[in-house]
Amino acid sequence: MSQPPQPSLLFSPLQLRGITVRNRVVISPMCQYSADDGFANDWHLVHAGKFAQGGAGIVFLEATAVLAEGRITHGDLGLWRDEQVPALSRIVDFVRSQGAAPAIQLGHAGRKSSMSRPWEGNGPLTPELVAAGSIPWETIAPSAEPIGPGWMTPRAMEEADFKRVRDAFGAAARRAVGAGFDIAEIHAAHGYLLHSFLSPLSNRRDDRYGGDREGRMRFPLEVARIVRQAWPADKPVFFRCSSVDNDAAGWSIEDSVVLARRLVELGVDVVYCSSGGIAGSATAAATAPRGLGFQVPFAERIRREAGIATMAVGLIIDPAQAEAVLADGKADLVAVAREALYDPNWALHAAAALGADETYARWPKQYGWWLTRRESVLRDLGVRPPLQ
Ligand SMILES: Cc1cc2nc3c(=O)[nH]c(=O)nc-3n(C[C@H](O)[C@H](O)[C@H](O)COP(=O)(O)O)c2cc1C
Repeated sequence: MSQPPQPSLLFSPLQLRGITVRNRVVISPMCQYSADDGFANDWHLVHAGKFAQGGAGIVFLEATAVLAEGRITHGDLGLWRDEQVPALSRIVDFVRSQGAAPAIQLGHAGRKSSMSRPWEGNGPLTPELVAAGSIPWETIAPSAEPIGPGWMTPRAMEEADFKRVRDAFGAAARRAVGAGFDIAEIHAAHGYLLHSFLSPLSNRRDDRYGGDREGRMRFPLEVARIVRQAWPADKPVFFRCSSVDNDAAGWSIEDSVVLARRLVELGVDVVYCSSGGIAGSATAAATAPRGLGFQVPFAERIRREAGIATMAVGLIIDPAQAEAVLADGKADLVAVAREALYDPNWALHAAAALGADETYARWPKQYGWWLTRRESVLRDLGVRPPLQ
């Protein structure tokens, strides 16, 4: 006798502190490089809004700079001023109205600040871009070492910088609370400021913010503490790390497990397990060719050894693949980025594929009613509705 299908884990709700997310599909943060002086606009509303309509459980906004100097490009979102809050509130309200949990990623790009947008070269600002008004600015990092030849050399952070950046993370988190976000994520991956403190490839300091692993973790942990303090106790904080540097002399998975244990003590709820990016362009982590689900083993190991919920990401393209990540106990949440760009309704289509929505019940009511009728018309015509 065949067994009835198991209910989908991907489409079961998840409780994170006082927040219940409707399913475990997460739209990963994706920079749009389309903000005006850090202010969100209609592009960001539609970008996030369509994923919320598309059935995801959590919709992340992109890396949002806690200081103007911490932007990757002139087009990054920011939360360094109170005036930037209302445009984000509008997005938060719409995402929530569609049943998804609105989330924000807070970051500082460190030595990967002051560069051009991907479609403008994805590198240092060129003389042509400068002439057109994209003026470079001073960047900061643990050590005065550029990402690579031809890139700007950052200024090594001094005592006053630590307080300024730490306080900026706290202030941006408080602004994000005001905007109404359910989840705050600290961006400590992909070679940006906090990752560059963790990695011995970029942190050459010999003071208390460098040296051994304890010293290199100090500043990212201070930031985690200040964000956790600023964030409401009934709302979760995520922490995104590059689980490995992909370099034998760099940050390792063993280091990430130790870091994750410290994050548990600080009240961080989820570690979001990415990898790479300590050298090369800002988007290197997203473009290097690798196998399907290549970062899932990091999420599995951190979850098992640090006893913290994890989120897996990276070339997870197929609903059954995503379901298996959860069913095999490798992560608690699954994130998609480029798949969602390709198909903003990825979550709704995945729910259908996994037998978790056979009646379009998860679709916005404005669409579902029509789609049930479309389906019966197509069935009468002997046509199998695509993607259902
Ligand atoms: C357009 C684009 C922008 C991205 N911006 C960010 C970002 O703001 N913050 C971040 O942590 N990762 C960023 N990433 C990386 C993604 O979040 C994700 O980790 C990566 O694309 C791998 O997932 P995928 O294979 O599902 O695309 C970006 C990726 C893309 C495609």
